[in-house]
Amino acid sequence: MSERPIRIAPSILAANFAELGGEVRAVEAAGADWIHVDVMDGHFVPNISIGPGVVKAVRGVTELPLDVHLMIEAPDRYLDEFVEAGADRVGVHVEACPHLHRTLSQIRARGAKASVTLNPATPASAVEPVLEICDQVLVMSVNPGFGGQSFIDSVLPKLETLRGWIDARGLDVALEIDGGIDCKTIGRAARAGADVFVAGTAIFKQLDYAAAIADLRQAARE
Ligand code: DX5
Ligand code: ZN
Repeated sequence: MSERPIRIAPSILAANFAELGGEVRAVEAAGADWIHVDVMDGHFVPNISIGPGVVKAVRGVTELPLDVHLMIEAPDRYLDEFVEAGADRVGVHVEACPHLHRTLSQIRARGAKASVTLNPATPASAVEPVLEICDQVLVMSVNPGFGGQSFIDSVLPKLETLRGWIDARGLDVALEIDGGIDCKTIGRAARAGADVFVAGTAIFKQLDYAAAIADLRQAARE
């Protein structure tokens, strides 16, 4: 476990939108590895957040990879827009993609990394047939739609299953966890196999972003 990289991806959903550029620069300076961007359409999830225009604006203020999490219905309609806006990694939900193999292939064909995302109630087996054609699996540890929710422990066996498949097949697939990640939960997720950790509240709602990120990194190793 200890050799596995620990990558911290602050979710700008919890940032101060009125100061978004400064917030992104601040977490970059504080040691963030990626910037996580939560896109919500009010259909796939109850909340509405931001779209490609904000991705483009964020692209202009950071060199960090932009990890764009699409919580939207029929995401195929918007792949071009998000990649053109500067998304490095584009994540789609299994539950929103009847033709998942095609959708992931199309993300890669556009030059971005393809991420496949699972709601808490969706089993690992839903992505088993597409592991070879994706760059990342995102396991949701809350029901998507809102920041500040509590970590759902019952997703941990799913992380273990996915880590087992990724390692057994020798795949270069990042295993990301999103929702309720803080210093109390991150260690459990890391031990179960995650290597990318999204955190909104546990970073942007803290006074000292560098300390918050350092504390998460430390807790992930414990
Ligand atoms: C939830 C989003 C998460 C969220 C995480 O729908 O996908 O990325 O912003 O927020 P926290 O870390 O507060 O649970
Ligand atoms: Zn997210």
